[in-house]
Amino acid sequence: MNGLYNLADVHPSELRALVARALELRRGAGAKRFQGKALGLLFLSPSLRTQASFQRAAGKLGLELVHLSGAGIWQVEVRDGVVMDGIAAEHVREAAAVLGRYVDVLAVRAFATHRSLAEDLADPVVRSFQRHAGVPVINMESALWHPCQALADWTTLDQLGVPSDGKFVLSWAWHPRGLPHAVPNSTLCMAAQRGMEVVLHCPEGYELHEDVMSLADELGARSGASITTVHDRELALDGAHVIYAKSWGALDTWGDAEAEATRRADYRDAWCVQPDWLGENTRFFHCLPVRRNVVVADAVLNGPASAVLEQAENRLHAQTALLESILGRKDSGKTTTEPSR
Ligand code: CP
Repeated sequence: MNGLYNLADVHPSELRALVARALELRRGAGAKRFQGKALGLLFLSPSLRTQASFQRAAGKLGLELVHLSGAGIWQVEVRDGVVMDGIAAEHVREAAAVLGRYVDVLAVRAFATHRSLAEDLADPVVRSFQRHAGVPVINMESALWHPCQALADWTTLDQLGVPSDGKFVLSWAWHPRGLPHAVPNSTLCMAAQRGMEVVLHCPEGYELHEDVMSLADELGARSGASITTVHDRELALDGAHVIYAKSWGALDTWGDAEAEATRRADYRDAWCVQPDWLGENTRFFHCLPVRRNVVVADAVLNGPASAVLEQAENRLHAQTALLESILGRKDSGKTTTEPSR
């Protein structure tokens, strides 16, 4: 692999190999070692799981780590041709190219800004780093996609034996703010790539962007998945193998926090996942962090149906497999294997 921007860019056979390798690593297989290679982590948005799991993966692979966060670096301008007399002191053309001189793989996180829908749909920050770094770039969550989460989620579905044609419900949930679409976009497309019966369950007005729905349809046409949007709860949840809860903002009030708050006010109690949303064999998924008793009730998170800690653990294994694949492609073949744990 040559970096990872969106899981949908990767052929399903390659994804299945990555998932199989992630599960081997989870079972204790030794990771390859890449002596003298370095991984750059650049966090322009906050993180717990992504930071910790990439750091740990780097250790397993014998990588040197260059770890930077937004608070400690110059503010980066990504627009071309601008007069830089504002707050940004550095342009991405230099920032990305310089980091590319220090590391062999660069991973970047930059969330949607909600300044404008057009800007967020262009996904300018991670795209710019991809263009200018000169080394493979991994998207650690951009405005539009969170492929590492989706890869870990596919791994979790396989680990838990969820049928590849099982019913996968991506359900909107209430949250005080309108959140970005990276996770729901990637989740929907991942389930489509896996060949599942995919249901998007949301209130009217909270559908995902038409381009994402078209991409999911395309992926589904290749894998045998079906993709439907269902507003009726009983119909949506009936027979679900997985309920994947996530909150996100409405597209037509994007960037207008007040309008978004008004629009979602009526959904507060009705869109918190409760135990009676789950059938006997339904597993509950969420990418974390999650607001307890806002997005999902304690009884669901604390109960046996919850897969959230498996998902979080699989971030480590999936990213270790991903880095092995990227560095293995770049590497001249001089790798050793660490002993099993
Ligand atoms: N799921 C996820 O990406 O978690 P963090 O935002 O804590 O990294």
